[in-house]
Amino acid sequence: MSNPFSLDSIVRPNILKLKPYVCARDDYTSGILLDANENSFGTILQNEKLLTEELNLNRYPDPNQVLIKKRLVSFRGLPSIDYFFLGVGSDEIIDLIIRIFCVPGKDKILITPPTYGMYSVCANINDVGIVNVNLDVEDGKFQLKTEEISKGLKENPTVKIIFLCSPGNPTGTILSKEDIKTILNDSCFNGIVVVDEAYIDFVEEKKEASVAKWVEQYPNLIVMQTLSKSFGLAGVRLGIGISDPKIIRLMNNTKAPYNINSLTSEIVFKALSPENIERMKTICQQIRAEQIKLMSSISHLSGIGKFLGGNDANFILVQILNKKGEKPSNEGAYSVYKNLAEKLGIVVRFRGNEFGCEGCLRITVGTSQENKTLKEKLRIALEQ
Ligand SMILES: Cc1ncc(COP(=O)(O)O)c(C=O)c1O
Repeated sequence: MSNPFSLDSIVRPNILKLKPYVCARDDYTSGILLDANENSFGTILQNEKLLTEELNLNRYPDPNQVLIKKRLVSFRGLPSIDYFFLGVGSDEIIDLIIRIFCVPGKDKILITPPTYGMYSVCANINDVGIVNVNLDVEDGKFQLKTEEISKGLKENPTVKIIFLCSPGNPTGTILSKEDIKTILNDSCFNGIVVVDEAYIDFVEEKKEASVAKWVEQYPNLIVMQTLSKSFGLAGVRLGIGISDPKIIRLMNNTKAPYNINSLTSEIVFKALSPENIERMKTICQQIRAEQIKLMSSISHLSGIGKFLGGNDANFILVQILNKKGEKPSNEGAYSVYKNLAEKLGIVVRFRGNEFGCEGCLRITVGTSQENKTLKEKLRIALEQ
């Protein structure tokens, strides 16, 4: 008898249709890597030794990661460890939040393109619908259209979660706190507002852009942060969820028991010491200073258009113009992207297909030396 097994017929249909998260690193892995908004200056940890023999690696890690959460309490100024959840990067937290609040095949999330791709990927994995309400992209301002969001919520009563990103990726722009408040106060919405603050430490402190402390007033707010960017620890995979203790409890009940491994835990605990937090702040300032230098050094190159957005994170979003230099061009931007990666040893990210980002490349701010090389190679790529 022939085996009746047919893989396609037993996979969940939404998984079969899935378009996975794709990144420039799928295609290019070497050269100067300015594609993923990592911290080009390196990790903030200096000369720290991992005492693996003292880590008791034969034991499971602390399921609650109390020591790390205690450090987060003082760092982020919240009342107790009960306001914190730790995940395997923010990416695990995005998936977890969708699984907790959205019924597959029934509920939806609302996103505001152009935005971070993983919200849609996780929604698709969980068979959860997506409502798009684009940002106001005029003149690269990249702000929320609160009335349209409110309309979108009325028309789609099954929306359970709104994902906002501040500073945004790929927009590099902090959202108006008043607008976030308007959404949180929407009397028609019985759901969760997630504010993804992956890049928050790059924003000047005086702008007071974080809404993390608002979790004490708004029981439906979840703020996500990460050690992948400002702390230069993308490799250890540590994301932070900040919310009302009732929501944190749900997240803890849903996660895998020992999601944060002991090696990650040891490094993160050290990274969150008061001295290392100060180092992190200094490095963020240095990266922002390099960002200004980078923008002014490439702005005069022939073929470079406008810089879009507020430049509030560790990257820039820049238009590449058509051959005549009249308007932003996806064809031009894609060919610069390919030439940089394949002939000139620099990997950046093509973002021209994102709403409001026609002809755009997103470029992570590198070290001073990397930015000088970038300028030179970009000039060559623009001429080709
Ligand atoms: C806006 C945003 N959120 C979350 C992430 C992912 O963070 P993590 O490394 O903590 O999973 C990224 C990574 O690029 C991002 O840009």
